[in-house]
Amino acid sequence: MTPPQPAPSASSAPPLPVHRLLSGQKALVTGANSGIGRGVAVGLAQAGADVMVNYVAGDDAAASVVDEIRRSGARGAAFKADVSSEDEVEAMFHSMREQFGTIDILVANAGLQRDAPFPDMTLEHWNKVLSVNLTGQFLCAREAVREFLRRGVVPEVSCAAGKIICMSSVHQEIPWGGHANYASSKGGIRMMMESMAQELAPRRIRVNSIAPGAIRTPINTVAWQTPQAYARLMTLVPYGRIGEPEDIARAAVWLASDHSDYVVGTTLFIDGGMTLYPGFATGG
Ligand code: BGC
Repeated sequence: MTPPQPAPSASSAPPLPVHRLLSGQKALVTGANSGIGRGVAVGLAQAGADVMVNYVAGDDAAASVVDEIRRSGARGAAFKADVSSEDEVEAMFHSMREQFGTIDILVANAGLQRDAPFPDMTLEHWNKVLSVNLTGQFLCAREAVREFLRRGVVPEVSCAAGKIICMSSVHQEIPWGGHANYASSKGGIRMMMESMAQELAPRRIRVNSIAPGAIRTPINTVAWQTPQAYARLMTLVPYGRIGEPEDIARAAVWLASDHSDYVVGTTLFIDGGMTLYPGFATGG
């Protein structure tokens, strides 16, 4: 009889520091002067990372995020760049290397909506959303990956050569009438993220997505601002409350840390159950 095999040693998992999970790491968060990006930038800083705040408009808001980052004891800097412009993205990564030395974490978050009924959707509406939401993530991820590969793993900092978190949406799964451009961009992010994750995992680069549901931010004010709108929104959210940027920030800290070292190519839905087809709880 073959004796039972010993369980594989636990030593292949990384050691788990209990706090300041991201100490010594350098992060770039795009679209970080408001909404989810702001929450994530502050959350990463509170976990010990130095953070560059990318934004495209709103100097004062960006400066106030940088202040908040500094108050948490981390280094912060703002950089204005349109993520859909190759030149501006390259300049931003150049500045990141100059100011912080390198990059360990990219949160590709910048995104927008230009909603329209399908027959009225202009090519401009379409191109704007695809170029910021999808091409913007491509351009930033490509620069981050180039730097991760150049630098390689620095074991004192992280057991991965780099981590990318793509900000997706429940609408990478849920079709959204009146928002064909936005839903297409998020569906594209899903496949881009999974293809990158598959290709880059052997180089110890971890790529994952977060798919938020309805989060209280400026992008969807009409969905939560009045009691009537909020009540309507809640018919889509089994958990019965809107999400807050902090709900996303906590997950981003975990996904960027070595605590999630074995998580590769996954989309983490943070949506209060929106993707559970709540209409079927009583219908169908
Ligand atoms: C959109 C929001 C919307 C949410 C849930 C997000 O990706 O940006 O406007 O409220 O999905 O539908």
